[in-house]
Amino acid sequence: MTDYSGPMRVLSGIQPSGGMHLGNYLGAIRKFVDLQSEYECYYCVVDMHAITVWQDPQKLREQTFHIAAAFLAAGVDPKQAAIFHQSGVHAHAELAWIFNCVARLGWLDRMTQFKDKAGKDKERASVGLYTYPVLQAADILVYKATHVPVGEDQKQHLELSRDIAGKFNHDFKAENFFPLPEPLIKGPGARIMSLKNGEAKMSKSDPSENSCIFLMDDADAITKKIKKAKTDPEPLPSEPDGLKGRPEAANLVGIYSALAKKTDADVLAEYGGQGFGVFKPALADLVVEKIAPIGEEMRRLEADHAYLQTVLSEGAGQAASIADKVVKDVKEIIGFLT
Ligand code: AMP
Ligand code: TRP
Repeated sequence: MTDYSGPMRVLSGIQPSGGMHLGNYLGAIRKFVDLQSEYECYYCVVDMHAITVWQDPQKLREQTFHIAAAFLAAGVDPKQAAIFHQSGVHAHAELAWIFNCVARLGWLDRMTQFKDKAGKDKERASVGLYTYPVLQAADILVYKATHVPVGEDQKQHLELSRDIAGKFNHDFKAENFFPLPEPLIKGPGARIMSLKNGEAKMSKSDPSENSCIFLMDDADAITKKIKKAKTDPEPLPSEPDGLKGRPEAANLVGIYSALAKKTDADVLAEYGGQGFGVFKPALADLVVEKIAPIGEEMRRLEADHAYLQTVLSEGAGQAASIADKVVKDVKEIIGFLT
């Protein structure tokens, strides 16, 4: 970011393509809340990213409200941060096209998320799925965002955003026009793993329903899922080093420490030597205490589409006032008539 001198801004986005889960909360949304009092923040529901794979229109609308409700229930304050839907701000799509002409095929060919999502039959994937990370760069840079809170799986996409910003600045001799956005990944919740497999990330698309704790799960469901979580027969170690080679145990301890805002070392100082028969109920109580109230508030908010719609529309208006100006400057730089 070296010589960039614009204001510090935060942007992040979440796809309305499934239920919000503990990984989304710890990896992303909780950080959104922590950042809002310090920075100018933009948090969007990325509906244009969601349609890179098929979405039922009615479900897409509901999921968009669901994500907005999750932001609000977790504590994002629309007075402090702009909360909006991506398709509500035209500038994202405009800048994405321009960035399609800046990004190189070779860069996109390296994206592992495309390879994972497209699978073996990539001829049948949408073109949008391929240029997905270019739209993501536009989401960020249309606000000249300097910081992007995300989970670890987004690291490669953030590097691409930096490459696009750098190439644009260089090709058009617009030194420091775009910042090189910094990912904010670190922190205890950066990679929450499946409850059924400590080597796979917790994901809404995991077919095993007990692998993932959704924010809307009630206390019973949360407790059951944690009880059924995969573990090993050993008691917990008394120091973090002892978690090496024990991915499931490490994940459960990681969830505990992230939610309790403690270090793994602190948690193990308390539970080291105990078996999962003791640790799992303690973890379940903590998850219920922290997550169930968010789920309840989400249910209340989701019943009020009119309110959510107002928040999103007002947020979109606020966001557009910044984004339109950036796109206007970009058009001038590249020689479009404005
Ligand atoms: P997605 O649900 O894929 O749109 O992800 C939304 C946000 O949640 C992104 O910042 C992801 O990096 C983050 N995220 C998704 N799954 C996890 C996970 N298992 N652990 C930590 N962060 C995650
Ligand atoms: N690709 C992100 C994900 O799957 C979602 C996303 C879209 C995003 N645009 C963004 C994240 C901009 C951060 C910034 O999680």
